[in-house]
Amino acid sequence: MMDRTDRHERFFLRSLSKKAFLYTEMINVNALLYGDKKDILLFNECEHPLGIQLGGNDPIKLGDSAIISEASGYDEINLNIGCPSPKVQNGEFGAVLMKNPKLVAQCIKSIKNKVKIPVSVKCRIGVDDMNEDKDLSAFIKEVSDSGCKVFIVHARKAWLKGLSPKENRNIPPLNYQRVYRLKEEFPDLEIIINGGLEKIEDSEKHLRFVDGVMMGRNIYEDPYQLLKVDPLIYGLPESLKTKRDILLEMIPYVMQQNNSGEKIQLVCKHFMGLAKGTKFAKNIRSSLARLHTFKRPEKKLIQIANQLS
Ligand SMILES: Cc1cc2nc3c(=O)[nH]c(=O)nc-3n(C[C@H](O)[C@H](O)[C@H](O)COP(=O)(O)O)c2cc1C
Repeated sequence: MMDRTDRHERFFLRSLSKKAFLYTEMINVNALLYGDKKDILLFNECEHPLGIQLGGNDPIKLGDSAIISEASGYDEINLNIGCPSPKVQNGEFGAVLMKNPKLVAQCIKSIKNKVKIPVSVKCRIGVDDMNEDKDLSAFIKEVSDSGCKVFIVHARKAWLKGLSPKENRNIPPLNYQRVYRLKEEFPDLEIIINGGLEKIEDSEKHLRFVDGVMMGRNIYEDPYQLLKVDPLIYGLPESLKTKRDILLEMIPYVMQQNNSGEKIQLVCKHFMGLAKGTKFAKNIRSSLARLHTFKRPEKKLIQIANQLS
């Protein structure tokens, strides 16, 4: 998620689940090819398994970006065919590409020709007046025939005109049944459902019909629930870590990042979700946002951790 799942958030999430598959924010291939590659691609080894999400519509640039991503150690290349933002539409990539399965297939072929790591697509069940049944099936057929075997499907359409990106994540109705049927139609593909999942426990009902679930906003807003993933989904022993333990564990990382020039509030903003449901939530969020103003941020973080218990 843009401005959310940066490397600090992913480092933090990894302290809550060793197994959950994590993804980067969408990275525009032009930024990757012509920008500060080293900075864009940076991640901590502990973040594995980790996919990089690319945004673009040029098969050659996507292929070249895939080569760089694989060489940097990412475990999967994901192509974004779900983002409806006006900026992305202007670049003619993201969700608008659902209308052009032939081009998406060319992009996938180009990526597949260049790398050995798995390639996946994140899409919607349609855009605008596309038919959620016939047109979605045709899209998946064409793109899977080009070599993509994993689809993460946000179970709502994107309406490309008239809705903001935020509205496009809430207003078009969710249609989980359509995603379940996709798995019936294409049993050999890996179908991962996304959209509107509130709790880790919600995944159990979906996993009866599809191969995986992806959660976005509710993990960001309440990250502590990710602690349930390893025991519930992967059968690992339950963790007894408290929110306080989690935050205390993050302090050496925060200080190391800060000492190497990273703004402390940019690292710590991701911890705000830990305050959800706690007595001093407002206070904790405000302290995390102002961490750079404290003389001894390390001490302040310990105080905040103690407020979390
Ligand atoms: C702030 C924000 C940024 C997002 N950025 C991306 C992105 O870069 N790539 C992507 O595939 N989806 C992005 N999304 C969409 C989410 O990945 C997800 O598909 C959507 O929010 C529905 O799932 P959820 O209800 O679990 O959040 C973003 C969502 C939000 C709220």
